[in-house]
Amino acid sequence: MTTKEIVSAMTMEEQASLTSGADFWHSKAIERLEVPSVTMSDGPHGLRKQVTTTNDHMGLNEAVEAVCFPAGCATACSFDRKVLYRLGRLLGNECRAEGVHVLLGPAVNIKRSPLCGRNFEYFSEDPMLAGDLAAAYIKGVQEEGVGVSLKHFAANNQEHERMCSSSEMEDRTLWEIYLPVFERAVKQAKPWTVMCSYNRVAGAFASEDKKLLTEILRDKWGFDGVVVSDWGAVRDRVAGLKAGLELEMPSSNNTNDAKLLEALASGELTKEELALAAERMVSLAKKAAEGAKKPAVFDRAADHREAVRLAEECMVLLKNEQALPLKPEDRVAVLGGFAFHPRYQGGGSSHIHPHFVPDMPRLAEKYGPITFAEGFSATGDKVDQALMEEALAAAKEADRVVIVCGLPEQMESESFDRKHMKLPECQNLLVEKVCDLGKKVVVVLQNGAPVELPWADRVDGILEAYLAGEGVSEAILNLLYGKANPCGKLAESFPIRLEDNPSYLFYPGLHHKAHYGEGIFVGYRYYEKKKMPVRFPFGHGLSYTTFAYSDLQLSSSVIRPDEEITVSLRVKNTGTMAGKEAVQLYVSDHTETYHRPEKELKGFDAVSLQPGEEKMLTFTLAWRDFACYSEEVGDYYAPNGAYEILIGASSADIRLSCGVTVAESPALPLVIGMDTMIGELLSDPRTNNFVKEALTPKLSVLTGDAGDGFDEMVEAMIRDMPLRSLRSFVGLSNEELDGLIAELSALV
Ligand code: BGC
Repeated sequence: MTTKEIVSAMTMEEQASLTSGADFWHSKAIERLEVPSVTMSDGPHGLRKQVTTTNDHMGLNEAVEAVCFPAGCATACSFDRKVLYRLGRLLGNECRAEGVHVLLGPAVNIKRSPLCGRNFEYFSEDPMLAGDLAAAYIKGVQEEGVGVSLKHFAANNQEHERMCSSSEMEDRTLWEIYLPVFERAVKQAKPWTVMCSYNRVAGAFASEDKKLLTEILRDKWGFDGVVVSDWGAVRDRVAGLKAGLELEMPSSNNTNDAKLLEALASGELTKEELALAAERMVSLAKKAAEGAKKPAVFDRAADHREAVRLAEECMVLLKNEQALPLKPEDRVAVLGGFAFHPRYQGGGSSHIHPHFVPDMPRLAEKYGPITFAEGFSATGDKVDQALMEEALAAAKEADRVVIVCGLPEQMESESFDRKHMKLPECQNLLVEKVCDLGKKVVVVLQNGAPVELPWADRVDGILEAYLAGEGVSEAILNLLYGKANPCGKLAESFPIRLEDNPSYLFYPGLHHKAHYGEGIFVGYRYYEKKKMPVRFPFGHGLSYTTFAYSDLQLSSSVIRPDEEITVSLRVKNTGTMAGKEAVQLYVSDHTETYHRPEKELKGFDAVSLQPGEEKMLTFTLAWRDFACYSEEVGDYYAPNGAYEILIGASSADIRLSCGVTVAESPALPLVIGMDTMIGELLSDPRTNNFVKEALTPKLSVLTGDAGDGFDEMVEAMIRDMPLRSLRSFVGLSNEELDGLIAELSALV
């Protein structure tokens, strides 16, 4: 039977029953029509499949043993779609082996503030990077016959009051920063489901927002799957279904199914609306059943090894002044509670029951002589004098000191935001005291989001491990000892202090309103515009080898609407160790038509090279890559004029650049009336000539005897003068003014 036939064979009760969960993790089945139930499970960086009767959405109760892979904060730093795709394949396979049909991830919300409690799950402050990496992850999972749930749609950038807060921003900000991440993932990878967020956007609950769930997601972007609510996000079920929310999760104990039937009876809901939701649910159930047919084996040991490899490809070497790699003969002291109790995942719904998390002491003998000392506890911030003394004594005996710092688990989790950006005092103190000893010091960080690093200039090396999954300790040791070459780059800026962050003045908002006052200037878009120093810039990451960039070429130096151009360049490994380089392409708008960031990421690729090897990289840019969101046009718009393409090893390390021109973009709408300014008419090609020929001579009375040095003043005065002022300054009658407006209107 076709999906439509199945749904028309259902009673209204059966159709309504499909639109809410059977329990915490399953949709309802309709056995008589062979519609199976769909099993869902968190996500995003490992499986949290609960099989107990006490289920929850906060990671509190037991889940089956699974492999904990690096979290989104780490995997984004790979800048490598292949890494995310591999991760997706691994997760998809594990899901199939455990009978899970839909994995609740990836989580892609933009990192607006370093304080957001869920930043560890999210990818980036940049929508292009986050969107494309999400797409690669989705393709990987879905290739295995398992669906994903792209979450949390939309503008869910804080945990504070997450179920009530309204994200308030200008249209331009929404369309330029917060929506494109979802758009890219939806268009490129067709996720089976999208999860709507808890919060409101401009006052409307995401779970009831027809503009978001239907007009944008389906009509504009072509989404053809199921929209599922975040767990407990449903408020008014009828409004939700009408807006495009097909599945309420978890179960509403049928109370909302009954509401739908009442609405059907009263005419508030139409039969067609209910049937459409049921059809979409049946399609999902069919896809799930089909995908589950292929057998799968969950080899935890093999996946653990993959977790280590992935972690190695994500960690970011932030600083290295001849401190790394360590040599096997170095006498090394490894200090810090996290060496013994690694922090490798975040708290909340993504919390995984890992298969195997070896700590550093357990692995040490493979690397060289290492002495371990705790120095501080991994769970608190109080200084323990005895632990500190013991660590300093170990440091004194060593050639090199590694201090493993991080954010204790209870300081960073889903459901609350951090209050500050500092590391615990006991950690900062130990780092400073070890620096006083004059040894080479390397700090390793295990955290889900940026922290302030007051001692950054004093230490010789910093390795950002983020929350790197159960392979964290092996990956760190492999990188420290040069058994693997660091290749991660920061997917977010590290401000020097919290107060530098653009959202600082507004975050997290008050009285159920989160005001996005910084607008489009999020992360590097802000720091660069303000010429503000950061601790480490977006896209930064070091390697043990070096790369040379050359031969930048464009297929055309002009781009028009509906056209594409290709940008190619050569990258060569000029060092002595095999390595991977994440190359970044930024576009900078020089037209000065809109307030825009200095530059924006529009392409990235990671290339692996043996020593001496070189490869060509090619990027494709479309007209939209030069565009911003224009509120006048109500769409994306690239002004005509000059732009620059910048190729960088980071946002602050631009290696190659060249100019490109946008041409033949339609003119911006120009409304002609008595308030239109002369300058607006002069800068529009349609009215420019007319103004010069018919108006400028008349305006000469204004330029009079201004004399040298006043040209700029006179020019500005004329430019900003509305047409109505011609009455007072040039002597136009009202009739003449009306005639002029009519003539100008005919030109646009
Ligand atoms: C989270 C989701 C998660 C769901 C199910 C919610 O609290 O926001 O990301 O998938 O719970 O556990």
